[in-house]
Amino acid sequence: MSNASPKAGASADEFPRKTFGMPEGSFRLDGQVAVVTGASKNIGTSISLAFAEAGADVVMVARKKDRLDSAAAMVRREAPDRRIMTFVADVGNAADADALCAYVLEEAGGADVLVNNAAGYGTTKATSILEIGDETWDEVHRTNVLGPFRLIRGLFAEAHKSGRPGNIINVLSGSGFLPVPTPLACPYGVSKAALWMMTRYLSMSLAPHIRVNALVPGVVTPSGEPRNNVQAGVMNQIPMGRLGMPGEIAGAAVYLASPASSYTSGEVIFCNGARAW
Ligand SMILES: NC(=O)c1ccc[n+]([C@@H]2O[C@H](COP(=O)([O-])OP(=O)(O)OC[C@H]3O[C@@H](n4cnc5c(N)ncnc54)[C@H](OP(=O)(O)O)[C@@H]3O)[C@@H](O)[C@H]2O)c1
Repeated sequence: MSNASPKAGASADEFPRKTFGMPEGSFRLDGQVAVVTGASKNIGTSISLAFAEAGADVVMVARKKDRLDSAAAMVRREAPDRRIMTFVADVGNAADADALCAYVLEEAGGADVLVNNAAGYGTTKATSILEIGDETWDEVHRTNVLGPFRLIRGLFAEAHKSGRPGNIINVLSGSGFLPVPTPLACPYGVSKAALWMMTRYLSMSLAPHIRVNALVPGVVTPSGEPRNNVQAGVMNQIPMGRLGMPGEIAGAAVYLASPASSYTSGEVIFCNGARAW
């Protein structure tokens, strides 16, 4: 029996790769410079490593130099061809944020990707929600809301004017979408809700060249095991029946930063083990 002739309409001309294939460079970040805040631990270290393995040079940012240097050394070992820079900064401090932006613009020629991952949870002596003081609100707001905005402004204002492409990922929390049973998490949850709304405003204003998306990790620890009673207590709310590990969040960041998500902006991805926020 002879082979059936190709079906009419199935020629390469009518099904060009350009139309049906994923965008060129999907899931790759070759030649890009990515800035990751909160990069010395847990999710931020994992995103830095995943970005470097996807081809990006990375500027890793945190406050404590020793831990940042160790995390950067690990990323360099795993991705020896990439340039891995470190910058010690408190993202909630205006002078530090300015210095970081100046460093990235001068040393790396600007940022293609920014991940606002560093977060403050707020130190408080309060024992109930109405005892939470202004200083806690200030601290959390500076780190989780104002800091990310300063970095976006400092790194992308020129790009917005010139049409240079860019990609921003804001790391949120489920507590910014629904209250958690821990009342003292209120400033943190409110700050993450604000960062989500900032994501949406900026995605509209910075289109079409700069995309702005958000990523919500579930409960994640370096070992995947609970480290305290609160984490142990939420286990039964997670349909997958376990906590997440940092590497299980990083893939979503690579997706959002790469051309694979080229038509996605102002959106959020939850990586939380099917927890129904
Ligand atoms: N892990 C989770 O279960 C979970 C769940 C929901 C959402 N999230 C979100 O995911 C992100 C990462 O969480 P994580 O658990 O991986 O964080 P983490 O383990 O607490 O580590 C925080 C990282 O941010 C740095 N950092 C903290 N404050 C900073 C500041 N003001 N300026 C610069 N760097 C700062 C820390 O280093 P230094 O202390 O040296 O600065 C560290 O590298 C956060 O936005 C968090 O809200 C996490």
